[in-house]
Amino acid sequence: MRNKQYGIRWTKTIQNNYGTPSITLVKGKGLIVQDSEGKRYLDFLGGIATNILGHAHPSIVSAVSKQVRTLSHVSNLYSHPNAVALAEKLGACTGTKGAKVFFCQSGAEANEAAIKLSRKTGRSHIVATQGSFHGRTMGALSLTGQPSKREPFLPLLKNVKHVPFGDIEAMRRCISKKTAMVIVEPIMGEAGVIVPPDDYLQQLRQLCDKSGCLLVIDAVQTGMGRTGSWFGYEYSGITPDVITVAKGLGGGLPLGAMIALGKAADLFQPGEHGSTFGGNPITTAAALAAIKTIESKKILKKVQKQGRFLIQELAMIEGVQQVRGAGLLIGIELGSATAQEITQKLLDRGVLVNAANPTTIRIAPALIVSDAQIKKFITIFREVLSHGN
Ligand SMILES: Cc1ncc(COP(=O)(O)O)c(C=O)c1O
Repeated sequence: MRNKQYGIRWTKTIQNNYGTPSITLVKGKGLIVQDSEGKRYLDFLGGIATNILGHAHPSIVSAVSKQVRTLSHVSNLYSHPNAVALAEKLGACTGTKGAKVFFCQSGAEANEAAIKLSRKTGRSHIVATQGSFHGRTMGALSLTGQPSKREPFLPLLKNVKHVPFGDIEAMRRCISKKTAMVIVEPIMGEAGVIVPPDDYLQQLRQLCDKSGCLLVIDAVQTGMGRTGSWFGYEYSGITPDVITVAKGLGGGLPLGAMIALGKAADLFQPGEHGSTFGGNPITTAAALAAIKTIESKKILKKVQKQGRFLIQELAMIEGVQQVRGAGLLIGIELGSATAQEITQKLLDRGVLVNAANPTTIRIAPALIVSDAQIKKFITIFREVLSHGN
């Protein structure tokens, strides 16, 4: 452990739900972060798909500093220009009219809001997918399709079924007139960056229309440009009823949102849901700055191009079995349970990634990553895989 001091203090004072991290990060700029011992790393994980513009991006620093000097928190009894502007912007990003947003702080909370919204259809059954990750609070955990995360906390919400991801026939068998909502990730991130068949979302849209249930797209990990589009489902041509976002939305600050479209936009009535910090002026200032930067620097196009390059180059490395993903959310399948070991070796070489599952390494660098940094990552990754260090 490099950070013995912090490690000991962490273990003594912080709940053991994460285990004790081996390094303590103290500062960063762009994609470079530095630990408490002065070692620098190329951050190819971006706070797990969260630091959309990297660390200390000038647009976010400036927007947040300005806002914190002006007005910090207003509660939901009062309006604030940033929350209104961000809701309008997110609605516009969906390409639809009439979207209405509920702001919160995290992905789990955005999905909790979606569960409650779906109850307003008068139905209560939910269909989700096996292997999915939708968060750890009791409602969100009920959607999460990973037995190891669910089992210690049973019983969870009733009437939630999990079907294999990408299997439209299994969905067809489960969706009924009792179904309030179906929730899917456009690409399953935590499961190891799993991409569904091309027509999956389209077919799912048809099934949801037939049953009259809400189609909820969990874009918490794939959203805010990560896969080269705003929310990760756009390639399919569908319009969901609800989109949940968090992670990259706040440009590194804690912000989540549930965006309801069409008829779903008007399901909540006053008093039916809430969150003290939701739509806080500072976090929404950060989000507006991040979106403005992504648009003005034409980052979505760049991300698509860089994603294609990474997938093509990584697939040619010996020891890589498959490369999955889109844009800058990529899973590198090693075909053997060595992902943790390789992650540690990359850390030793000064590169941050994570093992999404025992055989898959996930990368999710900030969207501002340069071509030179991508080439550097590929070189180090190739060396680590070929030399074993
Ligand atoms: C797809 C997806 N949904 C929901 C969540 C939960 O988000 P949070 O950790 O902000 O509650 C995550 C987190 O990894 C996620 O990847």
